[in-house]
Amino acid sequence: MAKFQAPKGVSEYFPDRSTHFDFVRSTIIESARNAGYQLMELPVFEDTELFARGVGESTDVVRKEMYTFEDRGGRSITLRPEGTAGVMRAVIEHNLDRGQLPVKVYYSGAFFRAERPQAGRYRQFYQVGIEAIGLSDPRIDVEVIAVAHRAFAALGLTRYHLEITSLGDAKTRENYLINLRSYIKGLDIDDETRARAELNPLRLFDDKRPEIKVLMESAPVLLEYLTPESASDFKKVQELLTALEIPFVINKRMVRGLDYYTGTAFEFVHPDLGAQSGIGGGGRYDGLMAQLGGQELSGIGFGLGVDRILLACEAEGLVAPDDLALDLYIVPLGTGDQALAIAESLRARGIKVDLSFGDKALKGAMKSADKSGAKYAIVLGADEVSSGEVSLKEMKTGAVASVTLGSLANEIIERITHYGDHS
Ligand code: HAM
Repeated sequence: MAKFQAPKGVSEYFPDRSTHFDFVRSTIIESARNAGYQLMELPVFEDTELFARGVGESTDVVRKEMYTFEDRGGRSITLRPEGTAGVMRAVIEHNLDRGQLPVKVYYSGAFFRAERPQAGRYRQFYQVGIEAIGLSDPRIDVEVIAVAHRAFAALGLTRYHLEITSLGDAKTRENYLINLRSYIKGLDIDDETRARAELNPLRLFDDKRPEIKVLMESAPVLLEYLTPESASDFKKVQELLTALEIPFVINKRMVRGLDYYTGTAFEFVHPDLGAQSGIGGGGRYDGLMAQLGGQELSGIGFGLGVDRILLACEAEGLVAPDDLALDLYIVPLGTGDQALAIAESLRARGIKVDLSFGDKALKGAMKSADKSGAKYAIVLGADEVSSGEVSLKEMKTGAVASVTLGSLANEIIERITHYGDHS
């Protein structure tokens, strides 16, 4: 019988790589929690209309990439292509915006876009995102960027860079769009492109066709139309980033792929990832809540692509830290019951322990110990059980020390606290 295969273009993680994936994801989550963001756990499918209205009819995401289907009750359902619209829906539905502001939440999970799969671009992919809702202050813009920056620093990434821009306020865009529309009117483009530009003229900036790219090179640039208020907010964002020593470059032509953005927008770009170099992005979305039927509240957030950040870590030669590895591997020789009991008592003390099962010969069992990546190993034969003493072997150096079973837990805890101090 033919073997089943995963659907085309999904990302999936299994040992050993899943350990590093998990580390990347939890490092980002920890950075968000350290800044007071709390978990939002949301459905992976929502009413299709939420994304059509929230993300925007002119975007590729809504036009071509949504996994939309009718459920058994005849409702149109879409697998979430991104997280912000769902967060806003939940905030409005559960009146979270009636309490203390800003509402600060994070989320982590799978997202779905029917894109053409390639390296770093998947149809099911993973994001960790944060949203800060209800505060219009450049400081929160910078806090959001800093959460990502701090996560990247904790992962050890150095080769990425941060691009920022401002998409201005409503007045900025009103002035700008008049100019952009009149520029586009003069262009020789096909009807479909023109129709798209009518929905949102900014979309022509992320058109990948070379002939359109050339035409858009001389188009007016939004950043030059900022109102004094927007310009002053953008300046403040830059000053604060500089004060926090977060390097950035201004990208005047950045166009985010989703329609809800206003004000500060940003992207983290990693040069080693080829065409899919965006490892995360976000920005302010001041009109979104009202557009989804809530009150007029501003918001800002990011979505970081966990799959691509893992690829970036691998490209930079970064590996998950030692403390994720097993602390101890037990090789029982005819002492399986006692070994399991010892393993459980050590695990209860927070020590990471695995052991070999079945009646493996010593050689095979030692191989398993090696492969396990554990820092230490013990062999537990009948002699060790009766004398209550084992040889604790450090796998990296081969050094052995005699330790009583009664003091094994304390000895390992002591050693792993200082593990690597002398290397
Ligand atoms: P986005 O730029 O569409 O923003 O996605 C954020 C990140 O998700 C991207 O930078 C990329 O790393 C990753 N990503 C997107 N599509 C794929 C894919 N097909 N395969 C692999 N990774 C992908 C948003 O989704 C916004 N909701 C972010 C946000 C939150 N803005 C404000 N708040």
